[in-house]
Amino acid sequence: MAQRISVVDFVRLSLELNLFFLRIMKEHSFFLEAGFLSKDADLTRQADQFREQFDALLREAVRLANRNVSRVVLASGEVVTDKTLRAEQKTIELSGIPIDTELTSEELGLEPGTPDPRLENSVANLNQRAIALTQELIQFKSRILNQVLNCTLFTNNFPLLIDHIRREAILFVDQLQRLQRREQIDLTQEIIAEKAFWDRIMKEHSQFIAHLLDPTEVDLIDTANDFAALFNSLQDRVQRVEESFIARLLLGGLIREETRATREIRDFKARATEGLLACQIKSIIIPLLGDHTLREANHFLRILTNPRSLL
Ligand SMILES: [Fe+2]
Repeated sequence: MAQRISVVDFVRLSLELNLFFLRIMKEHSFFLEAGFLSKDADLTRQADQFREQFDALLREAVRLANRNVSRVVLASGEVVTDKTLRAEQKTIELSGIPIDTELTSEELGLEPGTPDPRLENSVANLNQRAIALTQELIQFKSRILNQVLNCTLFTNNFPLLIDHIRREAILFVDQLQRLQRREQIDLTQEIIAEKAFWDRIMKEHSQFIAHLLDPTEVDLIDTANDFAALFNSLQDRVQRVEESFIARLLLGGLIREETRATREIRDFKARATEGLLACQIKSIIIPLLGDHTLREANHFLRILTNPRSLL
């Protein structure tokens, strides 16, 4: 029987998880919404509703999180970056889809603090609604993916992107459910699992970037392809570590390499997002997608550099 986490840790870990993933989910809804053609107005409307519902949950999470989450998470750049607001403004201008930028300003003003255990019920309730809505979004993503794979739907999102964002939604639900059970994690197991998950995500981000850049952006495409190869090899090595006890002893060295690679891809994404915002890169990447992948790299980097923040 796994040990249970304290109420204070439950409140903090839940709010930190929601701050990161509810924004990711609302942006997935946005990317889906922006990717449909005008013929598929019904799907556009459904994606728009998801976006608004995740916005409402995120707004609640932000209010609960103020002075109840750690400095490590707020400073990591996984909740919001110095580019999020500008990326949103440009994305509103380009897409015509409304985005709540006031919420982003509130997130930029969040302060760390010691979690208040009296929030336990409100937080558990928020988690439950986040689980239910994300499960619905997973169904929606599955339906779209199946239609794309059957060639009965055209969208501007790659099938792999839809599968990728569905995997992220599944991880969010799994981690929320574990918190709802107040289950204590095994740190080594957890780091190995997070590494396997995010290595693949980082590899796929590199592939998406390479494929969404204009074919004339040769240098950027080469860099993106190099990152894809790098994370592919790191991912292989994670799998080998999982298989052998002795290899687990080598985990420390692997984590250092992993941290270096993640820091490099994070910096690449930060430069690329600035390049998109300054209109210096030719692509079909909407600026908010750049910032979104940047936050995911920051999230992974926080786990690598501060594994104890998961406890
Ligand atoms: Fe994502």
